[in-house]
Amino acid sequence: MIPRDQESTRSGGGWLHWLSTLTDMMAYPLKTSHYVELVNPLWTTHKMQARVEAVWDETSHARTITLRPGANWRGHRPGQHVRIGVAVDGKHYTRTYTVSSAPERGDGCFTITVKAIDGGRLSHYLVRKLKVGDYVPVGLPQGDFYLPDASPTQPLFITAGSGITPAMSMLRSMLAQQRMANSVHIHYAPSPQETIFGQELREIDAAQKHYTLHEIHTAALAADDPARHFSLENLARLCPDWQSRDCYACGPADLLRAVEATWEEAGLAHRLHIERFRADLAEVPDDAVGGRVRFANSDLEVEADSATNLLRVAEDAGLNPPHGCRMGICHTCNTTLKSGCVRDLRTGEVLNEAGAIVQTCVCAAAGDCELDL
Ligand code: FES
Repeated sequence: MIPRDQESTRSGGGWLHWLSTLTDMMAYPLKTSHYVELVNPLWTTHKMQARVEAVWDETSHARTITLRPGANWRGHRPGQHVRIGVAVDGKHYTRTYTVSSAPERGDGCFTITVKAIDGGRLSHYLVRKLKVGDYVPVGLPQGDFYLPDASPTQPLFITAGSGITPAMSMLRSMLAQQRMANSVHIHYAPSPQETIFGQELREIDAAQKHYTLHEIHTAALAADDPARHFSLENLARLCPDWQSRDCYACGPADLLRAVEATWEEAGLAHRLHIERFRADLAEVPDDAVGGRVRFANSDLEVEADSATNLLRVAEDAGLNPPHGCRMGICHTCNTTLKSGCVRDLRTGEVLNEAGAIVQTCVCAAAGDCELDL
């Protein structure tokens, strides 16, 4: 028996493929899709784009952007992320953002919620300058940070700042499916006004008997107040049955490190699911040195310190190297070390063999070095 998708390929798909091949031959050296893009960028098949349908300020530093993706898009699972590309000052940048909407929203759109971070070129552009009607390249949803489909689960969400976004997608999805799980949510934000989705979270808390929200507003607490930070004591107070729940945590590295240590110490690491926005970096040793970085293919040489990743060094030098996640996952930024030394900022490992593969987004100069860029 022929599977459905193959069957359609053999009947309708066959002549469509033939037609597409024919038009591609006529369009050579481009593809038909390149001309289609001039009519509607969402119809292209050689790359995926999305149109900005709406923007909405969640707080003074965070904005929700509604995107309508084009051909080839497939739905996300709540908690997954997508890659978004934007050209800023003539250079192309890519970043990964969690989808904040539920897959069930039904209008063909999805949202990302972006917080402008200090020194974040793309986040500032997305929050301050992107406007309705703009088109941005997008990738397909990825990631394994999501609730299981079938088995009943009792989630404990621990989030901070913009780490709320994957949890929000999960909550919205459970609400849309009218199957809100018995959930406890501990969320850290500076103040009620600076809490992304604050009002919506409070409304869910008021309306859903299975959902309990604990907001911790750090700006209102003294610097030495133990309630300000995550700790086992605070956890046990806010969620006494935490050991019997599956924990979904997302937020800054310090919070995630503390959560990870608590679950490991309790022998419950298998019940902890973590989503990081940045790579977890090791301390750079005090005696670490940077060096001169030579980009061989560009005939460019710049000075770099021991902590700045080589992707950033290359971009600051005016190059536009390939990249994706910027946190050591996707390997899009891989290049070859031609000579010299680099340090992997996650592990502290020093690479000094010519021919070694260097992930430029998580490696820094550890002396002079030459890269195949
Ligand atoms: S950009 Fe993804 S691993 Fe470096």
